[in-house]
Amino acid sequence: MIQIKAERPRTEDIARMDTISLIAKYDRAVPRYTSYPTAPHFSTAIDGGVYARWLRALPEDAALSLYLHVPFCASLCRFCACHTTVVNRPEPLELYGITLMAEIDLVADVIGGHRAVRHIHWGGGTPTQLPADTMLAVMRRLRARFDVAPDAEIAVEIDPRTLGDDSLTVLAAMGTNRVSLGVQDFDPNVQDAINRHQSLALTEDCATRLRSVGIDAINLDLIYGLPYQTTAGVIETVRQALGLKPSRAAVFGYAHVPWMKKHQALIPDASLPNTAERFAQRQAIEATFLAHGYTLIGLDHFALPDDALAQAAAGSRLRRNFQGYTTDAADVLIGLGASSIGAVPQGYIQNHPGVPAWRDAVRDGVLPIARGVALTDADRARRAIIEQLMCHLTANPFEIAADSGIDPADLADAEPALRNLETDGLLERDGHRVTVTGRGRPFVRTIAAAFDCYLARGTARHSVAV
Ligand SMILES: C[S@@+](CC[C@H](N)C(=O)[O-])C[C@H]1O[C@@H](n2cnc3c(N)ncnc32)[C@H](O)[C@@H]1O
Repeated sequence: MIQIKAERPRTEDIARMDTISLIAKYDRAVPRYTSYPTAPHFSTAIDGGVYARWLRALPEDAALSLYLHVPFCASLCRFCACHTTVVNRPEPLELYGITLMAEIDLVADVIGGHRAVRHIHWGGGTPTQLPADTMLAVMRRLRARFDVAPDAEIAVEIDPRTLGDDSLTVLAAMGTNRVSLGVQDFDPNVQDAINRHQSLALTEDCATRLRSVGIDAINLDLIYGLPYQTTAGVIETVRQALGLKPSRAAVFGYAHVPWMKKHQALIPDASLPNTAERFAQRQAIEATFLAHGYTLIGLDHFALPDDALAQAAAGSRLRRNFQGYTTDAADVLIGLGASSIGAVPQGYIQNHPGVPAWRDAVRDGVLPIARGVALTDADRARRAIIEQLMCHLTANPFEIAADSGIDPADLADAEPALRNLETDGLLERDGHRVTVTGRGRPFVRTIAAAFDCYLARGTARHSVAV
């Protein structure tokens, strides 16, 4: 008779089983907290008239940042959750640039003066889908209407598959000093499934061309949780990506939201890694970056220690805004372009998402706001707690509440969730201070959600938490 000896589970297997049960317990969709309140809680009560009053009330010395949204791409990636459409004809692209310049004039007239700007971010979509001379003209208009600091960060999101030489020249002429290259994954099977074919050689060539015109600060965007991705595959992608010597990488969990982005329905559910696999991929990516000298920033960014983001994190100066983790400390973010979101001390505002409605409003001389939210003191307190947890993994809700002029007892609704998270070892408390543990770090969105008083009453659907 053969005797089968039961093997004792290894310590790492116990830890893995433990993690899987934690993921199952906290497998609830939560926001990414690039704002608080989050965009689903904006309302049409905030319009261009309210925004104009808010802009006029800005202090003379308020530092400004600018975000320009270009909602066009050359082709559609099936995974994409961004606000963009496929447009290749030059006419609508040129018209978009002309409207952007009119919007810049409109906003600059309302704010008044020649305000200092320290950060400009071009996002999309794909900003370089605009004709090169259009992009340059928009940038010139910005410099004419605002006082762009000589050392301002000028960052542009790039699709390496479509960066023409004319755009490359213009990026340099615009003073671009940081770019993010969309990569996602180098595995051809994954690329087939997401309709994004992009070889390592092409991406390398794009990075080399950018460096040849003096743009050295290169960020990469990677995604885990994509169709057919495996843990071994994402490790290989990171190894290849490391060869490009990025100063930063943003590693997003694939947000599968086919109820909002219909084209994502082309990705079969069965091809998607489950939550435990997503978690394993995320952990493997983290281990690979850390092994190569990168620092983990907040939830999902990696940076070389001498990069400004790593230094901001080390100096507790890291911030979070609509672009994710940032060194940008400005209290005023002016959004320009269809669907862009801005932030001023009084609240958040979002431009009309559709290009025609945005263009019509600008043509009529009206700030093209579709919706927004005015912040209460309680919102400000909760926002500060959530931002500090997302950025520094620690916050003192009691002190923040007191500083914001609200009664700390008003945050009592967070208590049941915090107790649960503490029992599961995801956070620790020292007096009033809440600190995310190493085990809790991948769950930081869930921990931040304890302080989100809109989440329970909202009907918005979000992507999964890990
Ligand atoms: C606005 S896109 C700009 C990238 C550029 N258009 C390109 O194609 O390379 C910025 C990044 O958002 C991320 N992204 C877009 N859709 C996503 C989704 N559904 N889930 C997670 N990340 C996503 C991708 O990493 C992408 O590179």
